[in-house]
Amino acid sequence: MEIVLSGIRPTGPLHLGNYLGAVTNFVKMQENNRCYFFIADFHSLTTHPLAEHLQENIKQVLSEYLAAGIDPEKSTLYIQSDVPEVAELYLYLNMNAYLGELERCTSFKDKARKQPDNLNAGLLTYPTLMASDILIHRATKVPVGKDQEQHLEMARTFGNRFNRMYNCEVFPSPTAYNFGEALVKIPGLDGSGKMGKSEGGDNCLYLSDTSSVLKKKIMKALTDAGPQTTNQEKPDCIKNLFTILEAVSTKDTVEYFNEKWNDCSIRYGDLKKQIFNDVDAFLTPLRERITDIRADENYLSAVVKRGAEQARESADTTMSEVRKYIGIKRLF
Ligand code: TRP
Repeated sequence: MEIVLSGIRPTGPLHLGNYLGAVTNFVKMQENNRCYFFIADFHSLTTHPLAEHLQENIKQVLSEYLAAGIDPEKSTLYIQSDVPEVAELYLYLNMNAYLGELERCTSFKDKARKQPDNLNAGLLTYPTLMASDILIHRATKVPVGKDQEQHLEMARTFGNRFNRMYNCEVFPSPTAYNFGEALVKIPGLDGSGKMGKSEGGDNCLYLSDTSSVLKKKIMKALTDAGPQTTNQEKPDCIKNLFTILEAVSTKDTVEYFNEKWNDCSIRYGDLKKQIFNDVDAFLTPLRERITDIRADENYLSAVVKRGAEQARESADTTMSEVRKYIGIKRLF
């Protein structure tokens, strides 16, 4: 059995891309793995140091995970800062993380370009904090997207280095959990790449968007002047709309609009209305579950408390080993 771990920064609500791309796979994963899912609030401080809206965002993402089917009876669902041992391991790992390798990290170089006025040590050591998340439960599998592969590789490096330096085998080598065929990539509505909150609000369909907001965003999605010749290839913006349609509609519906595209009789207004109807039908029950769970603070508090207990128990086991090998112990 694999020990699987995944973290998400609570910087906003989940969108359809998060849901279909990752979360539905997490729900399946928990059936035959020991899963840890956590909300990376320490990590969010690297870009949002004032923690404004942090509590609200954490509650929202928690409710969304639970509504999607992450089951606290099967998995451990916790908040990173509820496990202070993560910060302790981060400190130890930082002692053997080298400036050169941290500076070479792509995500750090990105941030150096994007936020030169706040290039803090938290950003530089983002990979050691992430390694600490992974190593503290001795996770063997981590579902990561392309943008996180380098971080996972660094987690392996730091774990292996620890084993070598202290002559032990505390940490296994975590590798990527591959969803293979099941990995659905949902594009955004602005004709560019994938759905993502950094691309701006109207590019994303959030799970918590009301029907009228969904409708507005979908009806505004980028299109072109329409097909000029039969059976021509679709431009990116239209391909994207079809990908969203495929994710939420029946095969017949997709076929119908493909035929309309191929014989040049497609009307984008109709296509968008269909996408709205099917996205809304898909998301409405989920949205209602999210609202109900979000309103039940007693339930949320029980889930968080239990998650923290389980995560700390696992972290404690690892940390007593780690402290022993480093040689950190109470003097008297
Ligand atoms: N860095 C991840 C992201 O931005 C979030 C994250 C933090 C994470 N710690 C993790 C993911 C540990 C997997 C494992 O999406």
